Amino acid sequence: MSSVEVIPSARRLVKSLRDVGYEFVTAVADLIDNCIEAKAKTVWVDVVWDGEDSYVSIADNGEGMALATLKEAMRFGSERDYEGEDLGKFGLGLKTASLSQCERFTVASRSNPSRADINAYCWDVEHVEATNRWEILPVRTAELHEGVRQHLKDTTGTVVVWEQLDRILGYKKPDGESARKQIHAMCRELEDHLAMVFHRFLAGEVRGKRLAIYVNENKVMPWDPFARKEDNTQCLEVKTFKHEGSGGKGDVIVEPFVLPHQSRFSSQEAFNRASGPEKWNKQQGFYVYRADRMIQSGGWSGLRALDEHRKLARIAISFPPKLDDEFKINVAKMRVSLPAALRDVIAKAIGPAVTLAEDEYRQRERKSGGSPAPGPAPTPSPVDVSATASTPAAAPAPEPSPAGTPSAALTRSEDSPTASAPASSSSQVTMPELRRVGACLRSFVQGPAEEQVLEQLLSRAAASME
Ligand SMILES: Nc1ncnc2c1ncn2[C@@H]1O[C@H](COP(=O)(O)OP(=O)(O)O)[C@@H](O)[C@H]1O
Ligand SMILES: [Mg+2]
Repeated sequence: MSSVEVIPSARRLVKSLRDVGYEFVTAVADLIDNCIEAKAKTVWVDVVWDGEDSYVSIADNGEGMALATLKEAMRFGSERDYEGEDLGKFGLGLKTASLSQCERFTVASRSNPSRADINAYCWDVEHVEATNRWEILPVRTAELHEGVRQHLKDTTGTVVVWEQLDRILGYKKPDGESARKQIHAMCRELEDHLAMVFHRFLAGEVRGKRLAIYVNENKVMPWDPFARKEDNTQCLEVKTFKHEGSGGKGDVIVEPFVLPHQSRFSSQEAFNRASGPEKWNKQQGFYVYRADRMIQSGGWSGLRALDEHRKLARIAISFPPKLDDEFKINVAKMRVSLPAALRDVIAKAIGPAVTLAEDEYRQRERKSGGSPAPGPAPTPSPVDVSATASTPAAAPAPEPSPAGTPSAALTRSEDSPTASAPASSSSQVTMPELRRVGACLRSFVQGPAEEQVLEQLLSRAAASME
């Protein structure tokens, strides 16, 4: 008997692929991952209200795509080789993120720096429904939005335009005023989300990948979940765990922070800003980064419960794409799970930070009689931190890990740092510490000449550590 090829029904599958779990802000973020990979330095997101003709465009000044690459990029499950730190994964994001928000999207791209030729194709749900075929439609340059043509006149890059925004606008087309308000609120939410998930890129903390993002001409400023510029933020011992997964070996880096109590923030405004998009209680816990892009923002991944008393504890966990299978990343890049073999060691590693966060909260609440007044307070020295950290009672009660978990798969890295906040207390500077120092120095840099010197020094330092 010969095998039979059973091609999926385009009409039905495209409809279900619209619902893989994106929200507006996560869909835009997934497209920005592609811009970063295309080496874009700047991304412009425009949300334009114009009744039925409303649209969203995401334009970058990256390398762009030649015709063949563009056609492949439009394929669901597009094929390409991924490198170590790539943000892409499934070959689906461009299509599924776009269709989660609209019924028609166009991708226009220019890859040749010396010729302003533009290639453009679109996916149109109506066309797929009518033909039941996996067909993309060419778009002539003259048919593109004027803004798209203008953008690609000056630079290589790519512009994705979402039209027929059924999911964004809903069935009832809102009238002018309420639509304006809705769009305004969406843009604010988008700015907050992008400021958070791309903060390492926006602050120039990722070598060679500094990024600027504008949302309707507003520059997005990085939001640092750990308020590292606050004098009273405490950085605890960074731990690196070597982990082996099906994609190879990689380091999982755990960086615990305890943010200051309200009364010890430099200002009320800084305290409010540190609160984050979901506010203090929900923003406690783990911040999980894949190749420096934040996937999870807060929550304890089942290791603890959200609790007012530990809301000042925030922990960065970074992993490389090689460990994707172990972290079980989903298509919409909105969810990860901690690998079973790491749960116990992570639970142990964060114990001191959680205890310290609870102490910080309780002591200050007591001192200020429950109504904290802003003002300076003594900062515990690094010795205080480690003293608390080594208290046996600080160890959390970890959830049992599944039986048979190969705990031998991980070991504390040899060069695992022992330093906490002040790097000077350590004999060996680690990458996360270098990144932190780099971030602080960059905020003092004035002008491109100084920036160049600093970047050179930082890359030299980073290279000498490799
Ligand atoms: N803004 C962009 N600039 C250049 N190439 C892009 C851009 N967006 C998408 N691509 C190309 O399209 C391909 C498919 O993108 P996507 O569907 O998001 O899947 P993935 O990112 O997982 O590879 C990418 O691998 C890349 O080659
Ligand atoms: Mg992608």
